[in-house]
Amino acid sequence: MSTLLNTFVRVIKTESIMIQIKRFHHVAYRCVNAKQTVDWYKKHLNMELTVAIAENEVPSTKAPDPYMHIFLDAGMGNVLAFFEIPNSPDMGRDENTPKWVQHIALEVEDLDALVSARDDLAAKGVDVLGPVNHGVFKSIYFFDPNGHRLELAANTGTVEQMAELKSVAPLMIAEWDETKIAPKHAAWLHEMD
Ligand SMILES: [Fe+2]
Repeated sequence: MSTLLNTFVRVIKTESIMIQIKRFHHVAYRCVNAKQTVDWYKKHLNMELTVAIAENEVPSTKAPDPYMHIFLDAGMGNVLAFFEIPNSPDMGRDENTPKWVQHIALEVEDLDALVSARDDLAAKGVDVLGPVNHGVFKSIYFFDPNGHRLELAANTGTVEQMAELKSVAPLMIAEWDETKIAPKHAAWLHEMD
């Protein structure tokens, strides 16, 4: 009887407690060199180093494997983090995935900020692509010194457009899952080019 009751209580608790994510605490990637990465992100994206955590041993195993873990301010409490792990083989990438797929997108205030960022990065010698029009936002693309693809994006969509996209998103996923052919529910995005 008590087992049944415990199960009942567990079900009730599961249904009543919903996880609420506040924002990114941090996302972490590997870097080639921590100092180079800190300097590059400050110089090119004006992102501040806020925390550096370093150990000479892996905390769990105590194996000697020095690392430097750096945290950069990505605005509004978001944190972009990196690890330098000098004792591991050099960084590679997933060669089965095109370079444009895995990327880190950071938001800027508006289209003017995006265009001036593009000009500023280009003046500093960065190879920048864009702005590219995605209908409800525009983006520029470039690579950091670690080979991570970065995107700066400025939202241009209206509240109504974003609501329309949200309403068709589940239908698009369902269709895509069946066909693997791009659904047309949001084709209007491309008519805005
Ligand atoms: Fe993106």
